[in-house]
Amino acid sequence: MKRYNVAVVGATGMVGQKMLQVLEEMKFPVDNLYPMASARSAGKTVKFDGRDYTVEELTEHSFDKPIDIALFSAGAGTSKKFAPIAAEHGVIVIDNSSCWRMDENVPLVVPEVNPEDLKDHKNIIANPNCSTIQAVAALKPIYDNYGIGRIIYSTYQAVSGSGVKGYKDLEEGSKGEDNHFYPHQIAYNCLPHIDDFLDSGYTKEEMKMVNETRKILHDDSIGITATTVRVPVYYGHSESINVETKKPFEIEDVKDLFNHTPGCVLRDDPKNNVYPLARDAEGTNDVYVGRIRRDDSAENALNLWCVADNIRKGAAANAVQIAFSLIDQGIL
Ligand code: A2P
Repeated sequence: MKRYNVAVVGATGMVGQKMLQVLEEMKFPVDNLYPMASARSAGKTVKFDGRDYTVEELTEHSFDKPIDIALFSAGAGTSKKFAPIAAEHGVIVIDNSSCWRMDENVPLVVPEVNPEDLKDHKNIIANPNCSTIQAVAALKPIYDNYGIGRIIYSTYQAVSGSGVKGYKDLEEGSKGEDNHFYPHQIAYNCLPHIDDFLDSGYTKEEMKMVNETRKILHDDSIGITATTVRVPVYYGHSESINVETKKPFEIEDVKDLFNHTPGCVLRDDPKNNVYPLARDAEGTNDVYVGRIRRDDSAENALNLWCVADNIRKGAAANAVQIAFSLIDQGIL
């Protein structure tokens, strides 16, 4: 089997570390590994496959060497500057930041949903926002079978989505210490505020869900609205999704779809207290779907509850799965 030279940019960060772990777990065929981060981390070591690798500083010359694929998770500013440099050197970049997602030359991909978009890549591929990935994974079989006219997203998002700073605010806040990162205490609280506010009153996170869903499903006609909320959970985003379909459905048929949807797991036995939970999703790469029930307040409408590990399926695992899909499709 062919092996590939892989760079992980942001290898010391929360998602970068998970990318290394997932590459190892999924046995991605790595030949040489190049962990990269800022000058602050140059010379530190990271572990991969039982070996220590020295972290190198990311510079304009980092991609002079023969690298096949680079997984970026070092923030939008770093991606904006360095992804084009890598791409010019023939490296295929899979970028976890928000920087390139809505660029029309950049495929935005969840491998179970729109793998065919990878064929059009121009060396930069975007990993969608964490809350979008799990939502579209759950919506795809509904979209394919019944069409979708409208979506209402309400999210309950873990602090790890904000990186180490968010994690620490919950950890320290739970012990009564002041918040340093979030504008309010996150411990014992819910903040209806993720990313910056726009003039419209929505947050950037909410508009990421709206715009990215339409791009991934190739359907600008879907009406979508979102409220995104940070909750005191370390790992795992939960989402309430209200969907209006174009065609009528039987609720049991909708449930059964998730028994045949790769990457999705049906957890829907409320009488026995079985429904998707963040604690159960933590450490796994699947999207869990449950609480599927008809919404009688509109024609052809339903509600569902969807949960996934935001650092894995919402970031690192999806990026590595994109890399595998490139190989499977003969693109890499
Ligand atoms: P470093 O550890 O050297 O700061 P997180 O989101 O968990 O904070 O992680 C961010 C990741 O992005 C870290 O690996 C961090 O490296 C890396 N990073 C941040 N800024 C840069 C930069 N200018 N160049 C390269 N890597 C960066």
